[in-house]
Amino acid sequence: MDSKTHTVLSDLRIDTPRLLARIDELGQIGRIDGPNGEWGNARLALTDADRAGRDLVVAWMHDLGLDVVIDAIGNVIATRAGSDPTLAPVMVGSHIDTVGTGGRFDGNLGVLAGLEIVETLAHAGVVTERALQVAFFTDEEGSRFAPDMLGSLVYVGGLPVEQALDLVAADDGARLGDELVRIGYAGPVSCPTAAAPHAFVELHIEQGPVLEAEGITIGVVEGVQGISWTEIVIVGQSAHAGTTPMRLRHDPAYCAAAITTYVRDLTRHLGPDQVGTVGRIDVYPNLVNVVPARVVLTVDLRNTDDRILRDAESRLATHLVELAESEGVAITTNSLARFEPVEFDAAMVDLVEATAVRLGHSTKRMPSGAGHDAQMLARICPTAMVFTPSVNGLSHNIAEFTEAVDIDAGANVLLQVVLGLSSSDESS
Ligand code: GLV
Ligand code: MN
Ligand code: MN
Repeated sequence: MDSKTHTVLSDLRIDTPRLLARIDELGQIGRIDGPNGEWGNARLALTDADRAGRDLVVAWMHDLGLDVVIDAIGNVIATRAGSDPTLAPVMVGSHIDTVGTGGRFDGNLGVLAGLEIVETLAHAGVVTERALQVAFFTDEEGSRFAPDMLGSLVYVGGLPVEQALDLVAADDGARLGDELVRIGYAGPVSCPTAAAPHAFVELHIEQGPVLEAEGITIGVVEGVQGISWTEIVIVGQSAHAGTTPMRLRHDPAYCAAAITTYVRDLTRHLGPDQVGTVGRIDVYPNLVNVVPARVVLTVDLRNTDDRILRDAESRLATHLVELAESEGVAITTNSLARFEPVEFDAAMVDLVEATAVRLGHSTKRMPSGAGHDAQMLARICPTAMVFTPSVNGLSHNIAEFTEAVDIDAGANVLLQVVLGLSSSDESS
């Protein structure tokens, strides 16, 4: 790019109402309305709603003249050609699946901002030197098929595709590979990818309270904390709730409550960076007058420091052994996800920060508390993330919201970062 072109490009801005209109339209699919006007989405991975969301985004990709490919794990990658086909593309993207009670911004913002960038460039008649790719990755949430970030994990070669296709859904026991075929997204392109992008940038809502509380517009994400998900199965003795003396019980529901309390105590003990959640508890047979036979629950532990995270895991494991012994129950565990903390490329982080400052925004360097596809892409190319504030810090909640002014700021930072990366001479 010559300097004249560069000056013009630095003035380029996205069309925020157009981006918001796409977020709203995609949000109509699997829409959930709350009692006070709040609304969000249920588009669990590889359900009919996910298929409808995918079909809409793929139609938009085709409308924009992009070359769309679908890989063997259902990741969708759309490419806008650059002027130099010998250069590796710059990729942006995220996910469009949601948790069962999700918001309309989580993931969707990063994908639809990518499409908005493509449309902005097309209107301005700009052809970048590097190709630009907009991706959405399968099953980022991991609520239905653990682990989370599954599609991007397979994309970067972190899990064999055959193993991923054999995963079983937590809700209905469906096989992932069968669900992919059923919704028409078992693509022909092999996965992992053979061609790493030049760089990957993900725009995402913060999903926490920090930016809003400090009045900051752009979060410059330095990395993602480590994630450990464990499924715990407790098998006891089903018995009559009225006749069985307390001293003779082997009660899995009591054990589940003890584990839940222990997880909270553990986070108090290990400091403020340690978080812990029991998010799912399934009780069998789940009847008022029956001591349960079995309980299945999940524990989600996260920390930016892997040493402390390992300590948390090991303390929990010891607690489970002691509990099984004292209550006379059998406790088994199954690791659903385990990802170490990730640090993003320092030069990419600097680029995001400098770009946001150039556009006049307040910035804060911060870790991500949530998992993201970017943490997987960081294994194969320089990667960064841009955060925008979340109102009341809420996410994984239908009340999740981000103000239009912040979406405008984040998407324009993304645009300018992409433009900076898309030239073969990035220092120009
Ligand atoms: C997934 O996005 C998670 O952070 O749970
Ligand atoms: Mn997300
Ligand atoms: Mn999420």
